[in-house]
Amino acid sequence: MRGFDREGAVLSCDGISLATIAEAVGTPCYVYSGTMIRDRLERLIAGFGDYPHAVHYALKANSSLAVLRVVREAGGLADANSGGEIEVARRAGFAPEDIVFTGVGKTPAELDQAVALGVKAINAESAGELERVAEAAGRRGVTARVALRVNPDIAADSHPHISTGLSRHKFGVPLADARQILRDAGARPELRVVGLHVHVGSQMLGLDPVRLATDKVLALTRELSDDGITLEHLDLGGGLGIQYHDEVAPSPTDYAAALVDLVRESGLSIVVEPGRAVVGAAGVLVASVVDVKPRPDGKSFVVLDAGMSELLRPALYGAYHRVRPVLPGTGEPIRCDVVGPICETSDLFGADRELPRPEVGDLMAVLDAGAYGSAMANNYNRHPLPAEVMVDGGEWRLSRRRQTIDDQLACEEG
Ligand code: LLP
Repeated sequence: MRGFDREGAVLSCDGISLATIAEAVGTPCYVYSGTMIRDRLERLIAGFGDYPHAVHYALKANSSLAVLRVVREAGGLADANSGGEIEVARRAGFAPEDIVFTGVGKTPAELDQAVALGVKAINAESAGELERVAEAAGRRGVTARVALRVNPDIAADSHPHISTGLSRHKFGVPLADARQILRDAGARPELRVVGLHVHVGSQMLGLDPVRLATDKVLALTRELSDDGITLEHLDLGGGLGIQYHDEVAPSPTDYAAALVDLVRESGLSIVVEPGRAVVGAAGVLVASVVDVKPRPDGKSFVVLDAGMSELLRPALYGAYHRVRPVLPGTGEPIRCDVVGPICETSDLFGADRELPRPEVGDLMAVLDAGAYGSAMANNYNRHPLPAEVMVDGGEWRLSRRRQTIDDQLACEEG
C-alpha cells in the first residue's frame, strides 16, 4: 500500500497505521511517505526523457533531513533560498554543483557563502546583486556561475500571495532590462553567465503561465546569443500545483513533457525547482481532538492540539486541507469548524466541515501537509515544533523529535 489510505479501517501511511505512529510519538506529528516522495520525483524526472534536465527540489517546501535524503536518493538536486538552506543541503549530502541559490535579498554573507562553495548557479535578482556577486568572486579570485532571474510580467492564476511573475511583484528584473544587464555581466571576468531564471508562481493548476514565461525567456536567449552570450540552462522555476480539494492539477509527466516541447529547439538544458509537487501530498499532520463544543447555530467546534503554529497555510492563505479521522468515526455526522488552540480567529483548519462526531482524544489527519507545513511551523504560543516521522521501506522511524521548552529557550538569556 502506497501513500495515505484506509488500510482496513485505519488511515495508514504506506500500510502503517497512523494511530500506531501517533501512539508512539504523540501528537501533533508530521508523517511522511518516503515511497510517495520518491514516486512523485521519479515520475517528474522521467517526464524529461533523454532531454538534458536537472530537477532541483525547492528546499523551502520542506527541508527536513529525512525528506532531503529521499529526494537525493531519488535523483533530485537542491534549490536553496537562503544561506541556511544551502547549509542544510550540504549536510544532507548535496554537492555544491547540485545546488542553485535563489531568492530575493541575499545578504553579503550568503553571497560569499555561495561564491566560496561554487554552487551551480546563483540566481541573481538584480544588476546590483550581480555586482555584489562579482565583488565577492573577485575577492576570492574565482569565477562565479550566475543566472539572471527575469520577471516576465505574467499572471500565475494562483493565490495572490504566491504569485510572483507580475511586474509589480518584487521578483527578478524586468524582461526589457535583462539584455543590457547580462551584456554588462558577460563582460566581467569574475562572472560566468550560465542561465536565465523565471518563476511565475506556486500552486499553478494550468500550464499556460509557465508556457508563456518560457516563450519569453527563449526569445531573450536568442538575443543574448546575438550578443555572444551562450547559456547552459534555462531555470523555469517551480510552481506545479497539486490537488488539495477538487482542483485538477497537471501531472508531473505532462508538465515535464510540455517544457521539453518548448525548449527542445534551443538545445538548452532545463532546470526546474519543484517543491510542493514533490512533497505536498506525501505528508500529513496528525493531531488529537482536545475539545468538541457546540455553537449557538447548531454546529460545533472541533478543537485540535495543532493549529496555525504547526500548519500555517489555512490561516495565511485561506488554504484548503482535507481533515479526516484516523479511525473511522462511529458517531453521527456533525457540521463543524475544525480549529486549532491558538489565540487567533484565523486559526481555523476547515470551516463548515462534516465529520462523524469525534470524542476528545480522537486522532485527526490534516492531509496534503507535506509542503510548507513543517517548513513554516513556528513557536507561536510557545508551541514546540512537532515530531516528524518518515515511513519508508515498510518501516517507520522518528526523523525529528518533538522540540522541548528547553530547546526553545536554549538561545535566550533570562
Ligand atoms: N522556485 C522559486 C523561485 C520559488 O519562489 C518557489 C516557491 C519554488 C521554486 C517552489 O515552488 P513550488 O514548486 O513549491 O510551488 N508557502 C506557500 C508557497 C510559497 C512558495 C514560495 N516560492 C504555500 O504554502 O502555498
